[in-house]
Amino acid sequence: MEIKLKNLKENILRELSEIKDSQLLEELKNKYLGRKGQLNEILKAVKDLSEAEKPRIGKLANEIKQELAEIFAQSEKILNPRDQQDLKFDHSLPGIKKDLGHLHPSTIVQYEIEEAFLAMGFAVYDGPQLESDYYNFTALNVPADHPARDTQDTFWLEGENLLRTHTSNLQVRMLEKYGAPFRGIFPGRVFRYESTDASHDHTFYQLEGLMVDKNINIGNLIATMRTLLSAVFKREVDVRLRPGFFPFVEPAFEMDIKCLVCDGKGCSVCKQSGWVELMPCGMVHPKVLEAGGLDPKIYSGFAFGLGLTRMAMMKYRIDDIRLLQSGDLRFLKQF
Ligand code: DAH
Repeated sequence: MEIKLKNLKENILRELSEIKDSQLLEELKNKYLGRKGQLNEILKAVKDLSEAEKPRIGKLANEIKQELAEIFAQSEKILNPRDQQDLKFDHSLPGIKKDLGHLHPSTIVQYEIEEAFLAMGFAVYDGPQLESDYYNFTALNVPADHPARDTQDTFWLEGENLLRTHTSNLQVRMLEKYGAPFRGIFPGRVFRYESTDASHDHTFYQLEGLMVDKNINIGNLIATMRTLLSAVFKREVDVRLRPGFFPFVEPAFEMDIKCLVCDGKGCSVCKQSGWVELMPCGMVHPKVLEAGGLDPKIYSGFAFGLGLTRMAMMKYRIDDIRLLQSGDLRFLKQF
């Protein structure tokens, strides 16, 4: 009997060492330790032993039983770590959301606009932020002594170079490179040397658009602007068109939208006027077409310079431009 018990234990340990999943483990446990298992069969036979042997063998059998029960319990934990942590799976719990980063609000707006323009056959271009005086000003009909330069003071670098004050710097570059017909938008970072407040920053984003072809007119410009606005705001927004002035477009307009932060009531973003200057635009000046190597008698075009940062502020009702570049996670996590 003693040998039988020891053999049984050895067999169990050997078989146990080869088991790799919890179902097989369960089967093995039933086979040996279950009610009708081999160990119980042996224990049943203890009562037929002599009075002298009964206590010793009985004690040994129980010890082995207990030892094996512990070994099985431990193996179960190893094969099924869920039990170990006492985790219960609840299907109704919401998933665990990973703390990943996401797009910046300006980038979200930029991508929405890009999508709308790609659908209209425009392409998206990038260009230098460190620019020459020529492409930023002179080629755009803003010669060195022109007062319009005063409105766009910037950070000057050695030589004739500067940090571009607007994405319009790409207009002549693009016409030189691709000629006409041309349809493109140029989103990007621009710089101004100015003091900051709720609606001004020294670094911000614009999105320029340029379309040049034969017979382009103001109707094309207005239709394109409307498409752009509904792409971003997903609804009709009140707009107004005023005459404007920019040396590189003639005629020039200012397209304003009713302030979406205060619904036109007046706030710091709209300088209490209820309207926000969002998009200056106009028909490309003949001198700009010429600088780009095109004949203004054959070609015409429109251009616009959207304040991308301002657009994001309107869309998300952000009342201080400085938040956008602050890197403050409490702000950024809201989008
Ligand atoms: N570049 C101008 C600015 O930053 C905005 C602008 C005005 C762009 C009229 C245009 C335009 O393309 O047609 O103030």
